[in-house]
Amino acid sequence: MTESTPPRRRAGRSGWLAPAGLIALSLVPVAAGAFRVAELSSGAAVTPANARFFDSPVPVVVHVIASSVFLVLGALQFAPALRRRRWHRLAGRIVAPAGLLSALSALWMTLFYAMPAINGPALFVMRLVLGAAMAAAIVVAFAAIRRGDVARHSAWMTRAYAIGLGAGTQVLVFLPWTLVLGAPAQTAHDVLMGAGWAINLVVAEVLIRRRAGRSARLPAPTPSAAPARLS
Ligand code: HEM
Repeated sequence: MTESTPPRRRAGRSGWLAPAGLIALSLVPVAAGAFRVAELSSGAAVTPANARFFDSPVPVVVHVIASSVFLVLGALQFAPALRRRRWHRLAGRIVAPAGLLSALSALWMTLFYAMPAINGPALFVMRLVLGAAMAAAIVVAFAAIRRGDVARHSAWMTRAYAIGLGAGTQVLVFLPWTLVLGAPAQTAHDVLMGAGWAINLVVAEVLIRRRAGRSARLPAPTPSAAPARLS
């Protein structure tokens, strides 16, 4: 970028960094999901590692498709250029139900799949708490935007997205551990899964507070500039 690049264009370009980073972080779980769906639809061999998915394929297929849509389309919701257009509202009508399906199918699998022994009781509890929290955050965000409360909507969708993106951050957390120490045992496995979610939730809270601080410094919007309610 040159010094003569107009500030507006510079800001426009940097506005795409967050969505691009979020999509990059989503790539591994989205690819893993595509692999699992391909395996289920191609009649691959049933092994102890994948038997639960063959026994009950609907929840995992719903989970993979809904989660992938939520992460990829949801990442674009963070682009300021798209937030000012009709795109954000139209995409939101897909992203919110996809997020709900992702969370509800996650809860279903947690409760009814025969999980491998590597998943400990702490992970079971975390999945129940965070799956419920993700669904609740989307409902609160939807109710907020129906009232025209953009700040609350944005904060709760950011929290829901942070929980969903745990699948991506967990890859980054597991990678160095596995390279240095080998595959983690049950307790370490649960701690690493929890660390992925914790990192995302801390980053989300920092962003939410920073956004709140920025909008507190802006002049109050005139009635004509106020955000319209969703129909
Ligand atoms: C929105 C982003 C998410 C993506 C992209 C994603 C991706 C996936 C994928 C690809 C699988 C299949 C794993 C396999 O084939 O072995 C899976 C399974 C699962 N996911 Fe997610 N997931 C997401 C969010 C969540 C959340 C938020 C939770 C819980 C709070 C969750 C809980 C589960 C559970 C319980 C399973 C079944 C695991 C098993 O049987 O071993 N997922 N997810």
